[in-house]
This record gives sequence, structure tokens and C-alpha cells, in this order.
Amino acid sequence: MSLQSGLPLFLGQLIRSPQKISAIAPSSMALARRMAMELPMDRAGPVVELGAGTGKITQALLDAGVAPKDLHAFELNQDFVDCLRGNFPDIHVHHNKAQDMGQLGLNQVRAVVSGLPFLSMPGSVQIAILRASFRSMGPDGVYIQFTYGPKSPVQDRVAKALALTHTKSETIWGNLPPARVYSFRRSML
Ligand SMILES: C[S@@+](CC[C@H](N)C(=O)[O-])C[C@H]1O[C@@H](n2cnc3c(N)ncnc32)[C@H](O)[C@@H]1O
Repeated sequence: MSLQSGLPLFLGQLIRSPQKISAIAPSSMALARRMAMELPMDRAGPVVELGAGTGKITQALLDAGVAPKDLHAFELNQDFVDCLRGNFPDIHVHHNKAQDMGQLGLNQVRAVVSGLPFLSMPGSVQIAILRASFRSMGPDGVYIQFTYGPKSPVQDRVAKALALTHTKSETIWGNLPPARVYSFRRSML
């Protein structure tokens, strides 16, 4: 299956499960590249992608130099999983919830890159995903998340409970809808 076939597949799944997809189109390459620019380049190690969909961000991560054997993509939707496995046979595709990423036992993860619909997730789910992510990354890990909203996609009380700080990108106007990229790190206590 070619990467071009992602759009009809995405739109079909959006009609079937709008709440789980929570986007009107796959991310643009402009947004996907902006996400990849947030990767720490001063160290090696696995990269985890959450909610990989049809693989726009996956492609940008590979283009940025992540080795296929180091890339772990989590995706809930079976049709998207089949598409990812077809398009990216050398990466690790996990048909599993992002909340379960801790069960993989990965450590020294370089970054977690998320296309999950974080804004629409309850605080308890946000905490579970962020806890598992930072546990796998260690103290200098970064959790990269895009959002369409004007505010941080991580609820304030969640950011406080986990001692997270963030940086925010410029608006990526070449995405539908326009988006921003947030990078979360654990502050030194
Ligand atoms: C907004 S789409 C983003 C897709 C793709 N990353 C992109 O940017 O085009 C959200 C994706 O997250 C997946 N998803 C939603 N909840 C999930 C969960 N708890 N664990 C793993 N994937 C999930 C959906 O199936 C969908 O593919």
C-alpha cells in the first residue's frame, strides 16, 4: 500500500469512528516535519510514536534520520495498523493502546511523539500515557504533541502533578486545521 492511499483510508475511518480519530484530515507534511524537528539529536535510542494513523509523522521521523529498527508506532485502529505495516515494513508497529506502551519494557527512549487526540482524552488517560512515556525516557526525555487548540493539550492539573514544563512552536498554517507543536519535559525538582 502506498503512502498516497492514506487519505481515503483516513476519511473512511473518520466517518466510522470520529471520536477516536478526532481530526478532519491526516497531518500535513509541514506539521509532521515540524514534529520531527523537536527530536533530540544529541543522543541515539528508540523513538516511540503514539497514534500513528496512516503514517505521515512516521515518514517524517524516518526522513529525520530515525533508524527503522528504532521506531515503535502504537495504533489502535486495525486498518491503520495494516496500512502502517504495508508502508513501513521495517519499523515496529504495535496494535495496542498508547496507555500500554510501558508493557513493552523499552528504556532509554529518546522521545515520544504523539498524534493522539490528547485534548479529548480524560485527565486520567493523559496521566497514564505521560507517566508511561516519561518512565521509558528517563529525566531528559521529551514528549512531543501537536494540538489544534489555542492552549496546551495537557490539562493544567496533569502538567502540575507530573511537574511538566513545555515549549510551544509557531502556528503551522500549512496544516488543516492550523496546528502547534508542544514539547513537554519534566522540570528538575
Ligand atoms: C488525530 S489522528 C492522527 C493520525 C496521524 N498521527 C496523523 O497525524 O495524521 C489520531 C490517531 O490516534 C489513534 N488513537 C486514538 N486513541 C488511541 C490510543 N489510545 N492508543 C493508540 N492510538 C490511538 C487513532 O486511531 C488515530 O489514528
